[in-house]
Amino acid sequence: MAEEAILGYLETHDLISDSGVFAAERGIGHNEVVNIIKSLHGFRYVDAQDIKKEAWVLTDEGKTYAATGSPEVQLFLAVPPEGIPKEELQNKLAPSVYKIGCAQAAKNKWVEMGKLITRKVEHVDDKVKDLLLRINDGQAVDQDGIKALKARKLIAPQTWKGYSVKKGPNYAPKRKKVATDLTRENLQGGDWKELEFKEYNFTAKGLPIEGGHLHPLLKVRHQLKDIFRQMGFEEMPTNNFVESSFWNFDALFQPQQHPARDSHDTFFLQAPSTTKELPEDYVERVKRVHESGGYDSRGYGYDWKRDEANKNLLRTHTTAVSSRMLYLLAQKPFVPKKYFSIDRVFRNEAVDRTHLAEFHQIEGLVCDRGLTLGDLIGVLHDFFSRLGMSKLRFKPAYNPYTEPSMEIFSYHEGFKKWVEVGNSGMFRPEMLLPMGLPEDVRVIAWGLSLERPTMILYGIDNIRDLFGPKVDLSLIKKNQICRLGI
Ligand code: PHE
Repeated sequence: MAEEAILGYLETHDLISDSGVFAAERGIGHNEVVNIIKSLHGFRYVDAQDIKKEAWVLTDEGKTYAATGSPEVQLFLAVPPEGIPKEELQNKLAPSVYKIGCAQAAKNKWVEMGKLITRKVEHVDDKVKDLLLRINDGQAVDQDGIKALKARKLIAPQTWKGYSVKKGPNYAPKRKKVATDLTRENLQGGDWKELEFKEYNFTAKGLPIEGGHLHPLLKVRHQLKDIFRQMGFEEMPTNNFVESSFWNFDALFQPQQHPARDSHDTFFLQAPSTTKELPEDYVERVKRVHESGGYDSRGYGYDWKRDEANKNLLRTHTTAVSSRMLYLLAQKPFVPKKYFSIDRVFRNEAVDRTHLAEFHQIEGLVCDRGLTLGDLIGVLHDFFSRLGMSKLRFKPAYNPYTEPSMEIFSYHEGFKKWVEVGNSGMFRPEMLLPMGLPEDVRVIAWGLSLERPTMILYGIDNIRDLFGPKVDLSLIKKNQICRLGI
């Protein structure tokens, strides 16, 4: 209706000078008229100029007086011709009406204020109420009236916005429907020749792109990979979650009775339950070192069982990958290596706010002739300071495959205490020598979880908010980039 009115009016007139007046004359809401003007302006059917007007509106107090009369008139009417004692009058009126009424009525010289309040005039007009009603109706009011009402905060200014409207370059008495799609029917029927197409709007914002979103763990992993590469480490292939007990435990000189090899701690596979092949001569040397030692070791002195080594499991640490890689390295003339991996491991653990049955392990190792514990400490300082942890302490620890072994602690400035950040050590000769590595080759290594630093970096305190079915996907979509090591 508004659109027909505007386009129709402009067919015979040059100008709509005030959209407000135009709307009021036709009984159309001004908002509706404004929306149509904006839309017609967008398609250049009309040219629209802003017009702004300062208008006065009644305040809440003004509205009350417009309805009940001004306080001074209320007060005047409450004074009988014979006069009234002050207290009595006060009791007849609301406190604000009494207070304001007294002041204004006295100023107008309507009443005599003494112990007895008396009328000084016979009759009064409520000019304030009249003015308020005129303003409310949008009628003109003189400047003195406005000034007085404004001073008493009975009216307040408000800006009114509207438009003046003229024909635009694309003016037509009726809006043409422009085509937004070129269809198969348009092409076959030939009407594409006559159709008018909607112009492209190159400034319109497109839909947000819904691509993939990296999980915080992957972001932190990416930064860690960069750090390892900057330190000259090569990535080990970790694409096998299923591993044999042999590579996960036996090759690491972990005895077969070790509690970690129990199904309470490790997930064993039912199908296929055993590995197909192992390097037989190496298996023989591993069996011997477990049973009776060698290489200056006494071994564990038990009956090593091949069946136990064959059992498939979900790897419990990425050190299983390290043992495979070191074995491969030993099969060729020796070259020093720096290796790392960051991938998933699995442990049959009770799940709580900091533990899941799977997590990611970060592992680094350096393999070279004559390395010492001092080299390990040095590499750890280098690595952890790149993660922003430069205060480190070490505590003697035990791993079946390392000697000496050290737990790594870092001073946490936020928690104001030392927190454990990893585990490390020098691989035992009982592990390295059966592989065939030269006798003077030492391997220093360390491991830590990826979840721990990620939770600290992203301020997550329950691991189930980071990983698993309870994770809030919108957080994954919105999480920040990781600036570790930049
Ligand atoms: N594999 C060890 C763990 O699971 C980490 C580690 C790696 C310790 C290398 C020493 C050397 O915690």
